[in-house]
Amino acid sequence: MWLGNGVMKDKMVKICCIGAGYVGGPTMAVIALKCPKIEVAVVDISVPRINAWNSDQLPIYEPGLEDVVKECRGRNLFFSTDVEKHVFEADIVFVSVNTPTKTRGLGAGKAADLTYWESAARMIADVSKSDKIVVEKSTVPVKTAEAIEKILTHNSKGIKFQILSNPEFLAEGTAIKDLFNPDRVLIGGRETPEGQKAIQTLKEVYAHWVPEDQILTTNLWSAELSKLAANAFLAQRISSVNAMSALCEATGADVTQVSFAVGKDSRIGPKFLNASVGFGGSCFQKDILNLVYICECNGLPEVAEYWKQVIKINDYQKNRFVNRLVSSMFNTVATKKIAILGFAFKKDTGDTRETPAIDVCKGLLGDKARLSIYDPQVTEDQIQRDLSMKKFDWDHPLHLQPMSPTTVKQVGVVWDAYEATKDAHGLCILTEWDEFKKLDFQRIYDNMQKPAFVFDGRNIVNVDKLREIGFIVYSIGKPLDAWLKDLPAVA
Ligand code: UDX
Ligand code: ADP
Repeated sequence: MWLGNGVMKDKMVKICCIGAGYVGGPTMAVIALKCPKIEVAVVDISVPRINAWNSDQLPIYEPGLEDVVKECRGRNLFFSTDVEKHVFEADIVFVSVNTPTKTRGLGAGKAADLTYWESAARMIADVSKSDKIVVEKSTVPVKTAEAIEKILTHNSKGIKFQILSNPEFLAEGTAIKDLFNPDRVLIGGRETPEGQKAIQTLKEVYAHWVPEDQILTTNLWSAELSKLAANAFLAQRISSVNAMSALCEATGADVTQVSFAVGKDSRIGPKFLNASVGFGGSCFQKDILNLVYICECNGLPEVAEYWKQVIKINDYQKNRFVNRLVSSMFNTVATKKIAILGFAFKKDTGDTRETPAIDVCKGLLGDKARLSIYDPQVTEDQIQRDLSMKKFDWDHPLHLQPMSPTTVKQVGVVWDAYEATKDAHGLCILTEWDEFKKLDFQRIYDNMQKPAFVFDGRNIVNVDKLREIGFIVYSIGKPLDAWLKDLPAVA
């Protein structure tokens, strides 16, 4: 049964999405909202995650998501742990499972670990009794579709599978907005008549709300590579401006003024030019490492080296921040209380995957600081888990992670910025939450140890105002405080 060519209008199509995470959950909720005649089931092996999707406390914080879920849940949107039943019933199966970076063996530290993907593919082949379209939704290395296709066809018992690549471009914090109004939807498929028909079927789903000229169709490999390329380009802009921020500090230029002036060039544009303590999130680093690995495997070491620099500058920026802080505070933070405002990798999300806060906090803990952390959306449990976890371990399903992580004793987590900063020697802003812009810094100053330091990793505070209050202020890429100028250069 291949749909396409308008067949969908007459038939109740069933979609199943394997993986109820940051991508699968919001994407399927919006498909269900915009396509009331399509039945959408989101399935996951994690019982707590599915229970949360079925409760009033959704497992992820995303502005606007709750309204969408409330409208469709129980109507044509279902969350279930009965993975096999829903895959069996589906016409289209989206796969949105974890693709961690390998931590051992061939390609360790770079290549994607396709264990979860492979087991999902084998299960699809096992339970299917009808032809299906299988859609890659989670980011995967180029040519994954080929591997998946092999697993499916070699185990298919005569059933036909068409593989499509339909990468997700949503950004967290604006996921619902991005899904409602995508810059583009990208669908890659085989260039055979069956492949083209499958593309058409998926196109019809999105055409319920996305203008047709914004739905791009390509071959499979272009779609897979476009996702990696888009994330690499975005991350590269941030590393470029962050590299400039170091030079700004050395020369007295102001990175905000420089990026504004640069971004006014219509060929460059103003977006993604905010200097920061470093980029985080589940995609950028992982996708670039993947790209690097693919380049190396294809005999392109120069290209691999080029993209590696984007990550190196990001690591440099996080180290530079920690070094700047420690050297400003008389070269030691041992036993000093440092308040950390913000732990999520960006504002408007509770997601901490690859957040620069992890590296900054670990750096400060390495120097024996005591940390008091406040983030409006991140729980103590999550912070403790992140600070005790090994690099790359975050991308494994929750139930496979240690249940009771060792508590990092020098870390306290509080639910209020004033509490976090009370009696602190210094405060760091690591996430650009709007509420941090409105804090009463005079009150904070009065309750801190003196000299009181502010290290703004997101350039959100009014530096002049804070200096007037009496703070010693470091703000990424901004002209240095006299206090900091006299210190040896930081690398
Ligand atoms: C990214 C891509 O934007 C999205 O298209 C893709 O589907 C997934 O990866 P996301 O990781 O959710 O989305 O967030 P994004 O807004 O891209 O921010 C990534 C990181 O870069 C954050 O840590 C953010 O704070 C940082 N950033 C962003 C900067 O430091 N400066 C900027 O100017 C922009
Ligand atoms: P993303 O940000 O890409 O959405 P997440 O880690 O948030 O990634 O979500 C991936 C989800 O996929 C997790 O909830 C995990 O439990 C689920 N998952 C992994 N493997 C399987 C599988 N074989 N079957 C069902 N769900 C799976």
